[in-house]
Amino acid sequence: MKIFVDSANLAEIEEALRRGFPCGITTNPSILAKEPKTDFKKHIRKIIELIKKYNYKIPLSVEVFSTDPDEMVRQASQFVEDFGDYPELNVKIPIGWNELEVIHQLKERGVKVNCTCCMSFNQAIMAARAGADFVSIFYGRIRDVGYDAFSIVQKTHQVLKEAEMPSQIIVGSIRHIHDVNDAFSAGADIVTVPPKFFPQMVAHPKTDEAVEQFVTDFRNWLK
Ligand code: E4P
Repeated sequence: MKIFVDSANLAEIEEALRRGFPCGITTNPSILAKEPKTDFKKHIRKIIELIKKYNYKIPLSVEVFSTDPDEMVRQASQFVEDFGDYPELNVKIPIGWNELEVIHQLKERGVKVNCTCCMSFNQAIMAARAGADFVSIFYGRIRDVGYDAFSIVQKTHQVLKEAEMPSQIIVGSIRHIHDVNDAFSAGADIVTVPPKFFPQMVAHPKTDEAVEQFVTDFRNWLK
């Protein structure tokens, strides 16, 4: 059970890295587009520098920003050229018929692939069979259209396990802290979480109550 940071915001990433728990970082073009306009290459480099500064060796997913398969391969090659010195670089490729060929080609070249935008069991299994190291299943977006995200993750997990396929399931598109618990219960290896949920994930009113009681009792005893 691993938690990834679903963000390209340098301050959010650093806040998480300082706390020791992140097992990876995922970005996508929309997440990057939330940042102040800058040079894409320089921004990814800053994320890599932050990861190194805090002595992590964790997967960093960078997504292609084209719908044309040839352009995807070109961009993926450029990512490897620009950021390949960081050994945990993963190139994110969306699932699709032509995209399977892109995934296969990249795998043949030894590039680590995170197949993204999976909304169904079939998509996830096809991505895994094509060689994706990670298959990203979009929990919130699946539920937006009334499908049962829990059973899609559960079935994918069972089949990957039974067939002894090495792909790991990342659940993304998290909309609530309950989604994190549900995704792990369904068999996700990894959940990638928007940083705004992290403080909530470690907060509990009974914890506050207990800590307050311990401190007060001890202060009174010291008097
Ligand atoms: C992560 O890898 C995904 O790109 C991300 O979680 C998608 O989230 P969204 O559905 O909120 O855009």
